[in-house]
Amino acid sequence: MITTYANQAGSAGKTTSAVTLAAMLAETGHTVLLVDSDAQANATTWLGVSNPSLTLGDVLLRRATLAQATVETDVPGLRLIPAHEGLDGDALELSRVLGGEQRLRMALQDTGADVILVDCPGALSILTVAALVASDSVITVTQPTVKELAGVPKMEATVHEVRDAYNPKLRFGAVIPCIVPPSAAGALYSEALTLLCEQYGDLVTPPVRRSVRIPEAYAQQTPLSIHAPSEAVTHDYRAVLNHLIQSGVLP
Ligand SMILES: Nc1ncnc2c1ncn2[C@@H]1O[C@H](COP(=O)(O)OP(=O)(O)OP(=O)(O)O)[C@@H](O)[C@H]1O
Ligand SMILES: [Mg+2]
Repeated sequence: MITTYANQAGSAGKTTSAVTLAAMLAETGHTVLLVDSDAQANATTWLGVSNPSLTLGDVLLRRATLAQATVETDVPGLRLIPAHEGLDGDALELSRVLGGEQRLRMALQDTGADVILVDCPGALSILTVAALVASDSVITVTQPTVKELAGVPKMEATVHEVRDAYNPKLRFGAVIPCIVPPSAAGALYSEALTLLCEQYGDLVTPPVRRSVRIPEAYAQQTPLSIHAPSEAVTHDYRAVLNHLIQSGVLP
């Protein structure tokens, strides 16, 4: 089962959602592979992997096998294909390869993982297209403001295009409202959340509140569920996970 975390906007909560859900799935006994497909390498950094000798770019350009680039993390059951800042250059090279957008799909066959999560950059590039070509479903992540919400239908349209062109099984699996301020922040956010639910119904997961525990967990290079297991925001992500399991997007 392969899920991609994507949105054509930055700072939406994609990496936070991918890393947090990956660690939670591993904690419940799944064999999980997290693929860092962003040159910012935030997922790689969060999981405490520094200066990896091989990265996703090496796999996509076939300088290394997936097995060679796979790194064990400190979370039992969670493995990582790391990224580094050279990934954008590798992506440029990949875009000149015939069938380059199929490379990730081919690389992810026979990983032995129960679930694979791909963390994408905040812009549409061949890396995002390659992730969509390889995936069963896409989870998009958005802040609930009118400006940010405009990105959700754009992502949905991209999913339809990739489905028609390359991957008929691809499903627009869920929308996670992230970095949601306290309700005291005013009607703006609750109106945007209501709008999102009207448009996307059951695809919308429970919201994830804004919490300092998230940047804190990142700075500690520890998954949220280990850094702050009993915090409200961690429970928010558990509710998201349950929603995604019930809708068949995650195992
Ligand atoms: N629920 C939250 N509460 C507070 N801060 C958050 C929350 N979720 C994410 N953040 C912070 O917001 C920033 C963006 O989050 P994140 O890196 O997950 O987004 P992204 O969509 O992956 O961004 P990018 O497009 O740059 O890859 C980070 O600094 C992160 O620590
Ligand atoms: Mg990110």
